[in-house]
Parts: sequence; structure tokens; C-alpha cells
Amino acid sequence: MNRRDFLITSSAAALAPRITFASASVELVAKPVMAQILPARDPATPMLGFNGNTPGPVLRARQGGTFDVRFLNRIGEGSAVHWHGMRIDNAMDGVPGMTQDVVDTGAEFKYRFQAPDAGTFWYHSHNRSWEQVAKGLYGPLIVDEIAPPDVDHDLIVIIDDWRMTESGTLADGFENMHDQAHQGRLGNYARALVEPNTPVRRGDRVRLRLINVATDRIFPIELEGVDGKIVAFDGMPLPRPQVVSNLVLAPAQRADVIADVTSAGQIAFVFPTRDDPYLLGEIPVEGVNTMRQPSGIPALPPNEQKQPDLDTAVVLTLTMQGGAMSRPASTQTDIWAFNGQSGLTDTPFHRFERGQTARIHLVNDTRFPHGIHLHGHHFFEVGTDASLGAFRDTTLVDAGGTRDIVCVFDNPGKWLLHCHMLGHQAAGMKTWVEVA
Ligand code: C2O
Ligand code: CU
Repeated sequence: MNRRDFLITSSAAALAPRITFASASVELVAKPVMAQILPARDPATPMLGFNGNTPGPVLRARQGGTFDVRFLNRIGEGSAVHWHGMRIDNAMDGVPGMTQDVVDTGAEFKYRFQAPDAGTFWYHSHNRSWEQVAKGLYGPLIVDEIAPPDVDHDLIVIIDDWRMTESGTLADGFENMHDQAHQGRLGNYARALVEPNTPVRRGDRVRLRLINVATDRIFPIELEGVDGKIVAFDGMPLPRPQVVSNLVLAPAQRADVIADVTSAGQIAFVFPTRDDPYLLGEIPVEGVNTMRQPSGIPALPPNEQKQPDLDTAVVLTLTMQGGAMSRPASTQTDIWAFNGQSGLTDTPFHRFERGQTARIHLVNDTRFPHGIHLHGHHFFEVGTDASLGAFRDTTLVDAGGTRDIVCVFDNPGKWLLHCHMLGHQAAGMKTWVEVA
């Protein structure tokens, strides 16, 4: 990443107004919008949005509550909405051709699901996602704990990049094969959008819900002006909060940070690049909170987690293949493949009995990193010392590297397993599993 690849940084902009609801009926209308992606002196950009904005509204409920969303598609082509990271009924997962029919333009679909887990999630189009997500069809999905942690501000930080033209439109070529064979569609302009965009005080305790919604870009993130810990990854609380260092978010990954404001100036979200650091956004600090007593950062209450049965686990290998600068598997039919297969096959990668534990050896036999996402479940990342680490829905596997994951497949249905670099997914890096 080269600093000069980016246009000028602008300050953080406000997201759409928050919609707060639980068990209420909400309409989510996807349609073309004009969005001020570039700084205010530059032209607005034709995009796609929900309810007139990109990012779409914050959908929010309390743990155990119900999301009841009437989705209306007015974008001019088929679409569907996926609730990323939510362990919900298969029929509500939003994958056209697998869990539902595509929602034609002019048509609608009713999504209704309970929120089993508290945490930071997001929603996005799952039809031609490499283009529809790049154009802005996504939004935050927040599930509040029954007893939320004691913070002064609960802030959503959406991180995205866009590939802009000189005239302020999105560059086309969403299926550019050169992009797909490399890192995917990387933007030339990036930003962290903070909601609500209000000043905080020095001494305040803040919760930052970081969400990487970029189609393809991995963001290393440095936080300035705060002192705190990572309390959750991909919505799921860490048993022990972790020091914030080397925080890296692959596309679709989230991190929750609880931190105390130490700066008198601003909280900054910084993207370190090979040249100068790139300022993605900031939150102004005004005034001082003298009331808060110093205290450690507590762990969030855990979400339900079935204990994996490692003794009886089925052991599988999923090898990532293809892309630029590597020899394709002889059987693959597109740029990328898993185990020699590009795209979805008639038979799943594996059929699991309900409740079965699997240990999947992810092997990255390519020259690029991949962020592998499983629908409908979270899984443990296995550490180098064989311990079970973070409980995630998306795991980043370095180029040439490997990672084992352990998953209890307890949610019945057909679930996608794919690279969340959406350009890679478009070019074959996807498969599916079935849970009986
Ligand atoms: Cu974020 Cu298959 O999805
Ligand atoms: Cu990939």
C-alpha cells in the first residue's frame, strides 16, 4: 500500500441516523443514492444504499430480541440481504440460489430472526456482492448485551475503501480479472465512518465497534488517543481482553475495543502504510471527565458456545489454490479454487451430522492472503500451541500459511464457506457445507 495511491484524507463523516428497534417491523429499501464519499468540496458519488444512505441504517436489538425486516429491492437488478455473523435459521441467511430465491428488483422479502448472540455484526448484499457491496449495500447490525458494559460512548466505526475516478464516480470494472487474480478490488480512497459522530471527553470510557466492510482490502489499524483492550472479535467476547497491538481486520472482520480516552485532542484511526500513516478518521475530544475512577477493562459476558468434542472430530483439509503467480490446480475452472474446485458444486465440501465437531486444516497454497468466512456458525482459531483461540466467523490466512479451525456444526442447513475478499469469491473461491 502506497500513500500516493490514496487521495486526500478527509475527516470522519456521520453515518445515517440510527434506527433502534427490537421486535419492531422495519423496512429496508435498497435503491440508488447519491453519497458524499469524498470531502465536501468534491462531488457526490452515485452509489447504492439502504433507506437513502450508504452505509445503511444501524439495525439494533437486544440479545434474544427479534429482527423483523421487510426488504424491498429497488436497485434495478436482483439482490438479497445476508446478516453476517448471525447464527440464525438457514432460511433467513440471505444467499440467493441456496437459502432463498434472488429478490428481483421491484420485489420484496421478509426476514425475521432472533438474535442469539450479543455483539457487533453487519448486513450486506449477497447477490453479485463484489459489485453491490462495493457500491454501498451494507450497514451495521448491533445486538446489545442484556447487561451492557459500563461505557460513556458506544461508537460504531465502519472502515471502507472505494475506487474513485477523477470525476467522483466509482470506477467500474467490478469484475476486472487482474484485480480478481491479485488482491481484489482495492480502493484509492479510504475512511473510517463513526456513528454517532459526537465529541468525547478525556477520561471517558468508550466502546469502539470496528467493522471492515471493504470488499477486498485488509486493514491494519492503529488507535491513537486511547488506552484499552480488545474485548471481542467478530461479535464474540474474548474470555480475557487483549492488548490492542497489531490489530488487523480482514474484509468482514470486526473487533470491539473498550478504552479510556487519554488524548486531549482526538481519537485517531490510523492505517499504517509503507509511506506515511494514513488517517482514516477521528473523533474529537472536548473537555474532561473527572468522575470516572480508573479500573481495568472487564470481559464482556460470553455468548453461548458448544464445547467441541476434539476426540471424535472429523478432520478435513481445505486448500486454497490459484490466483496470479501460482500454478492452478488441473481441475479448477476459474481463477481461484478450493481443493481443485472453483465455485459451487452439486455436492457440498462436507455433510455434517448435527452437533458434529470438525477440525479443518486451512492451507493457503497461493501468493495472497485470504479471509475465509463460514456462514451460520462461529469457529475457534487453533493456536500454534494447539490451544483454542478466538471464536470467529472469518479467519485471515496468510499467503503460503496455514490455520486450523475447530467448529461445532450445530446449525442445520446449507451454509456457504468462502473467501470474503469478494473479488476472489466472484472468481471461484467458494464452497458450501451441509448440516443435517
Ligand atoms: Cu459476509 Cu457470505 O458473507
Ligand atoms: Cu481470497
